[in-house]
Amino acid sequence: MDARLSSRDPLHRLDLRAEIDRLRRARNAVILAHYYQTPALQDLADFVGDSLELSRKAAETDADVIAFCGVRFMAETAKILSPRKIVVLPDLEAGCSLEDSCPPDKFAAFRDAHPDHLAITYINSSAAVKALSDIIVTSSSAEKIINALPKDRKILFAPDRHLGAWLARRTGREMLLWEGTCIVHEAFSETELLKLKALHPEAPVAAHPECPAHILEHADMVGSTSAILKFALESPSETIIVATEPHIIHQMASRAPGKTFIGAPGADGRCNCNMCPYMALNTLEKLYLALRDLEPRIEIAEELRRRALLPLERMLAIASGVATDLTPAQADPPVSAD
Ligand code: 13P
Ligand code: SF4
Repeated sequence: MDARLSSRDPLHRLDLRAEIDRLRRARNAVILAHYYQTPALQDLADFVGDSLELSRKAAETDADVIAFCGVRFMAETAKILSPRKIVVLPDLEAGCSLEDSCPPDKFAAFRDAHPDHLAITYINSSAAVKALSDIIVTSSSAEKIINALPKDRKILFAPDRHLGAWLARRTGREMLLWEGTCIVHEAFSETELLKLKALHPEAPVAAHPECPAHILEHADMVGSTSAILKFALESPSETIIVATEPHIIHQMASRAPGKTFIGAPGADGRCNCNMCPYMALNTLEKLYLALRDLEPRIEIAEELRRRALLPLERMLAIASGVATDLTPAQADPPVSAD
């Protein structure tokens, strides 16, 4: 339980779901949740989606408050796109191993060492790293964006080396890769996955491109969380093996209750050991407190926000088809929402 809800505090006896609903209306708030959040948070949210869909929702909403059930870089993205809205994150400590792997000073030095390269940066990065980048991508928009870049432009990609390597294979582009990884997707075990496949030879494997190549090579489908969800629901197979953070299985099981979804195993083979510890910091209690107190808030200095906005807008322009072939020099991004 959150320290702000002590056992002597009568608040702990509140019906949190009802209170969150009341506050959502009173604050004119929208609750956005990523697929890696607990079922309780997903079920309360106004919208559940992948990183690109959540960015779009954050840019489009006419709510006064965005309560972001996800990790800090996602809430920061919402604030960059919607600066006049109040953006709250239930737990400010909800970070990301990819963001942590890429401090802005080291990234700036990496860029400086390769001045002829375009910096294509995964959205799983801090606002400061975004501000140093040319174009932001998500796992669902990256391939399209890289294919839209002129063939002669050199590319550096940060911070996820597994996603970068997968994109290089998909697009045939050479890329300089930053050495970051997602601790969740790195934890899948190839040996245990092969054992699971042997037990369910009919079950296709759907995997997120943050997985290392030795996991992806056993996958029948590779894509973002929303693409994995779509595949799992549309596949004629009754059993699907899911190699991404297992909370997404909540959406699959509730939309296709007749099917069986099995989380790919971690190294000990006994459980889904691949739950994101950062996403897990958000709870129903903390969401209630965030809506009640409008804290903790995401704040970004305006100058930094403006610099981080441009590469995000380039992504949204290409991903939505407003622009088709874009280099930073040619970019003419749409005016930001808000
Ligand atoms: P997507 O939902 O965009 O696929 O991202 C996955 C992820 O790891 C978010 O942290
Ligand atoms: Fe970061 Fe991985 Fe957690 Fe996503 S699942 S927030 S990439 S650590």
